[in-house]
Amino acid sequence: MSILITNIKELVQVREHNVTIVKGKDMKDLPVLKNAYLYIEHDTIVEYGSMNDVDGIEAEETIDATGKIVLPAWCDSHTHLVYAGNRVQEFVDRINGLSYEDIANRGGGILNSAETLQNTSEEELYKQAVERLNTVIRLGTGAIEIKSGYGLTVEAELKMLRVIKRLKQDFPVKVKPTLLAAHALPKAYKNKKTEFIDLIVNEMIPAVTKERLATYIDVFCEKGYFDLEDTRRVLEAGTQNGLKPKIHVNQFNAFGGVALGTEFNAISVDHLEEMNPEDIEALKSSETMPVALPGCSYFLGIPYTPARTLIDAGLPLALATDYNPGSTPSGNMNFVVSAACIKMKMTPEEAINAATINGAYAMNISNMYGSICRGKKANVIITKPIPSYAYLTYAFGENHIDTVIINGRTFE
Ligand code: NIG
Ligand code: FE
Repeated sequence: MSILITNIKELVQVREHNVTIVKGKDMKDLPVLKNAYLYIEHDTIVEYGSMNDVDGIEAEETIDATGKIVLPAWCDSHTHLVYAGNRVQEFVDRINGLSYEDIANRGGGILNSAETLQNTSEEELYKQAVERLNTVIRLGTGAIEIKSGYGLTVEAELKMLRVIKRLKQDFPVKVKPTLLAAHALPKAYKNKKTEFIDLIVNEMIPAVTKERLATYIDVFCEKGYFDLEDTRRVLEAGTQNGLKPKIHVNQFNAFGGVALGTEFNAISVDHLEEMNPEDIEALKSSETMPVALPGCSYFLGIPYTPARTLIDAGLPLALATDYNPGSTPSGNMNFVVSAACIKMKMTPEEAINAATINGAYAMNISNMYGSICRGKKANVIITKPIPSYAYLTYAFGENHIDTVIINGRTFE
């Protein structure tokens, strides 16, 4: 199978050399080829260039992209897409005055989702996740990380991870699975946090790694959830079992989670709505990707990650959705890049870099995903006719996507 996309108004994120991360000032640089073609064979980007040089290239299928923009599919490095039901009632309760914390303190929040998930069959959980995954792929996502964390028992965590494994087998997108072992303290372990960490270390992590169900290990490092000592114990056990850290830190409070992440050489540290100068320093001497989740800030009404401070300090930044039932019931990366420009003062170039190449880095797949580069996977978005790539981030709330190609095939 081969596809030739012709008359592309702007071919965005074209990289002659296989760049795998962009940092600081370089994030403002988004290479664009105007009036271009893109040639795909099987699942691979084989060639691209100016329309002046297209003669002689023949393909089984030709797509005329006159007036349209082509860019790499989004790389969403942080989601909780596998969950059961929804938490719309808590959303209404928040509108009526309760805080996210109030809801968690009365036994709602993550515990609410865990109870629903424990009572949902693996088949039903899979069906609900399939619907969400189909939706986000049609919105342009071509690679996605998915976490467990709503199980809170060994059995239910395994159920979630098996669903993620099935999605990985059944869908053409790249799926990276994460064991979010310590997400909240289950009711059965009230006042027995050490015992719950023991369970994670002695049973959950070994069971998950035995079945090879996860690549990453995650912890919700936050006041009222898991402290630095708990996080350290989980990360030690995870890394000893071959899992790489990728953690939730600094969502509501900054108390050293970033430095702990970089000490463990985490692939990414995510959220970062609250940042101290020490956090920036820790990131500077690391290879860890900071990840911002503006959909969560929008939905909960909490501060946005200080993108300018991070980027202006020479750091890289990735953008992801955080798709989950409690803090971000949306997996729409188009909204995320728009919100990053509107609310975090990222330029469209920075936001697109953050949602493609740097998102791929935060899943350790940027050698094969996240840019238009010869030899890379053919995961691309073709927009409807729009004035420019910046228009994608500017005209928010509208679906500008016409076609999504995943692994060299149009995703219907
Ligand atoms: O990333 N912060 C921790 N976990 C999720 C939300 C969990 C929930 O409310 O269900 C997040 O925002
Ligand atoms: Fe999250």
